[in-house]
Amino acid sequence: MERSIIIAPSVLSADFSDIRNALLDIEHSGTDWVHLDVMDGRFVPNITFGSKFIEDIRPHSDLYFDAHLMVDDPIRHIEQFAKAGSDNITVHVEACRDIPKTIELIKSFGLGCGLSIKPETPVSAVEPYLDDVDLVLVMSVNPGFGGQSLIPETLDKVRQLAKLKGNRGYLIEIDGGVNAKTIADVFASGVDVAVTGSAFFKATDKAEFVDWMSKGVGDRL
Ligand code: DX5
Ligand code: ZN
Repeated sequence: MERSIIIAPSVLSADFSDIRNALLDIEHSGTDWVHLDVMDGRFVPNITFGSKFIEDIRPHSDLYFDAHLMVDDPIRHIEQFAKAGSDNITVHVEACRDIPKTIELIKSFGLGCGLSIKPETPVSAVEPYLDDVDLVLVMSVNPGFGGQSLIPETLDKVRQLAKLKGNRGYLIEIDGGVNAKTIADVFASGVDVAVTGSAFFKATDKAEFVDWMSKGVGDRL
């Protein structure tokens, strides 16, 4: 069976005034994940949207809502994002006051639970929780903006997490600077999910884009 990875387009690079069509573009591209970048202007130097935005788009899409919370002390907001319709909630280890409690709360809503690490944060920061989470998100750019260049050293952490997996079920997700030029290395590093924002929304043929990217082939695009 040919290996393929999940492609999760990030709506951060979409036109928010036309978000329903952006969601339709994602659905028609052949992937069933959408990545939702929540930024609070404190943990990261940018502000995007809150749980109301997710609540409002939920009835318009059957996509898997992969919520990426770049929010300080996220435990305060888990219930809101859970009730808004997120399918997975990922929080940053650097932002949590109590990681076990935050994981427990996310899981108490029956959702997928992810932990994310910034480029400078080592894998050892998430290692104690690898039995408890469904996903580990390796930031390949400094969180806060789309359209940045992938930091190649972060792929070492993906390889490390792939080695540590054993028979644990967590998915390895990468986020930031994933495009036709970087996808071959990203794919080879062992990821299960690749987020792509600016490259996806720039692609003229989004179904072809997702097809090739999910096979780790960028040079044909
Ligand atoms: C950045 C976000 C990313 C971003 C990716 O902090 O977490 O999800 O939208 O965008 P690109 O693919 O343009 O780097
Ligand atoms: Zn993200």
